[in-house]
Amino acid sequence: MIFNKKEIAENIFYVGVNDRLKEKFENLIPIPYGVSYNSYLVKGEKTALIDSVDASMSDLFVEKLHSALDKGETIDYLIINHIEPDHSGAIRFLRQFFPKMTIVGNKKTLNMLDGYYGILDNTLLVKQGDELDLGTHRLTFHLTPFVHWPETMMTYETTTQTLFSGDCFGAFGTLDGGVIDTEINTKKYWDEMYRYYANVMGKYGTSVQKALQKINKLEIKSICSTHGPVWKNEKDKMLDIYDKISKQEGEKGVVIVYSSMYGNTEQIAEAVAEGIVKEGIKDVIVHNVSKSNHADILKDIVKYKGLVIGSTTYNNDFHPEIKSLVSKIENTEVKEKVFGYFSSCSWANVVDKKLKEFAEKMKWETVEVSINEKMSMKQENYEKALLMGKIIAQTINK
Ligand code: FEO
Repeated sequence: MIFNKKEIAENIFYVGVNDRLKEKFENLIPIPYGVSYNSYLVKGEKTALIDSVDASMSDLFVEKLHSALDKGETIDYLIINHIEPDHSGAIRFLRQFFPKMTIVGNKKTLNMLDGYYGILDNTLLVKQGDELDLGTHRLTFHLTPFVHWPETMMTYETTTQTLFSGDCFGAFGTLDGGVIDTEINTKKYWDEMYRYYANVMGKYGTSVQKALQKINKLEIKSICSTHGPVWKNEKDKMLDIYDKISKQEGEKGVVIVYSSMYGNTEQIAEAVAEGIVKEGIKDVIVHNVSKSNHADILKDIVKYKGLVIGSTTYNNDFHPEIKSLVSKIENTEVKEKVFGYFSSCSWANVVDKKLKEFAEKMKWETVEVSINEKMSMKQENYEKALLMGKIIAQTINK
């Protein structure tokens, strides 16, 4: 196969691959635009490969590497910033072609390297601040635990000021012809970045904040994540958004999620939305929990400040789709929401209490408007729904 070398900084080459086959990332999150597994080759007197790819793409990956290496060149080091198998699955295959390659990782990484692949030999342990001199290039290592897994770290190349950031700043979506943000339309990646953050990294906001403070001391020209484009022109925008989402600040807008078997509960959601818009908030996103994918709903919940959840009573419990979503929100440890809720039933309402308990557990600022509908929406509840929307909007607008 023929591959052109994609140089992203002086003597640093993109050698990642696109995955358009996988339906769900981590067997959970739909990826309609696919995903890239990014890997980078840093060439000096010695050559280092930064992260590898999913096992399913091993063959293509090795072909790409052979195209990128000049005659007589080999891979001296494999730096593992993150050992989750979407970035390490190719390692055993890779070692067959580059048997002398030294695998570089921190203590936790090397333990996992043994645990996943039984690899114990030809490794190099690095600690916070350690350096690896490749000749022209010099790599320094920065431990950033729990951005996404406990072993995660970032690698900084000092001469080109390139940061290899692991999953941090990643986005779903394949790289279609171009790799660097300057050569492609990045529009689709921003939404996919939010979706990636909310569903993969969302739980680890505190760790992301610590990592941001650590890399704040570095002069950065390029950010090279393990997924999505290389960020150069738009790196400051990325850093700014990451700072805000990891602090869970939330943009000015409200997400309304409801379950409704016959459209009655949906009418309450419509009225809440009406109340919000009347107060001048333009970003109102209404999700039917049974139709919208939960990964998309979670993305919007993480992105915006306001959240309203409405559930029908179903077999003496939440509607099953709301129950599943509520569990995902808890698991992601979503914080700092302005929250409202409403419930409905045909004869016995049990979900009002459950939503109240949920709000207390999440420690959110909850609007005190109680809406418990029986069968179809009545005038009184229509007025209350408008009021709920109004108060939520006013709280966000403060
Ligand atoms: Fe892209 Fe946490 O793996």
